Amino acid sequence: MSSPDLKPQYNSNTKFADVMGVDEAKQELEEVVEYLKDPKKFTALGGKLPKGVLLVGPPGTGKTMLARAIAGEAGVPFFYTSGSEFEEVFVGVGARRVRDLFTAAKKHAPCIIFIDEIDAIGEVLDKALVRPGRFDRHVVVPNPDVEGRRQILEGAFKAVPKDLDVDLQVIARGTPGFSGADLTNLINVAALHAAKLGSKAVTMRSLEYARDRIIMGAERKSAVISERSRRSVGRVKGGVM
Ligand SMILES: Nc1ncnc2c1ncn2[C@@H]1O[C@H](COP(=O)(O)OP(=O)(O)OP(=O)(O)O)[C@@H](O)[C@H]1O
Ligand SMILES: [Mg+2]
Repeated sequence: MSSPDLKPQYNSNTKFADVMGVDEAKQELEEVVEYLKDPKKFTALGGKLPKGVLLVGPPGTGKTMLARAIAGEAGVPFFYTSGSEFEEVFVGVGARRVRDLFTAAKKHAPCIIFIDEIDAIGEVLDKALVRPGRFDRHVVVPNPDVEGRRQILEGAFKAVPKDLDVDLQVIARGTPGFSGADLTNLINVAALHAAKLGSKAVTMRSLEYARDRIIMGAERKSAVISERSRRSVGRVKGGVM
């Protein structure tokens, strides 16, 4: 019966500045960083700090990045785990793993336990983890609006040469419903396309090609939504404790 990896990671180098287009979520989480840096300052008058923060939102919006940024900015250890690690055939094993994790985390407190894909956890554990008081804050991480999309595209272009004809405002307007992960993928597809055409930089033509390809692929995929993903729609995605 092997335990999940119970060693924390140190020195997360993700920063809030890397996560774009989710300013309200960032503001709330910056407060959490303040708490982690100097807990005594906040509890001086008897107030209790939040124990758990649940990041809720569609796939690819930056929830994992934000959790890493909290650890990076606060300089605290980060336990990464995934809901599927607790999903067990034998009743009791998953619950035991949850306990082991919290015991290990207590030794390193203050720290962050990040449970990715918490929606993979079965009903019983889900209730135990999300029961009132465990996650006393809920932070919504939505898909970016048009300005957020422009910023994410701009950020992704830091590592990729951009042709003079490129207008990211136009691409941002043409990609409603795209997540941060979709936009990062868009730049990657465009960079491959431009290189294949022998361009020295990514052009508007390649960006539009990439956008259309991703939109058409998404349409094909959404035609065959599996039973599992249908059931998980609207469920929670990631938690920081
Ligand atoms: N808001 C954002 N700003 C910049 N990049 C982003 C943003 N959101 C997503 N990305 C890009 O997409 C990748 C995936 O993001 P991340 O894993 O944080 O999403 P997530 O919300 O945790 O997704 P999931 O729900 O699937 O776990 C990041 O590594 C980054 O390249
Ligand atoms: Mg994630």
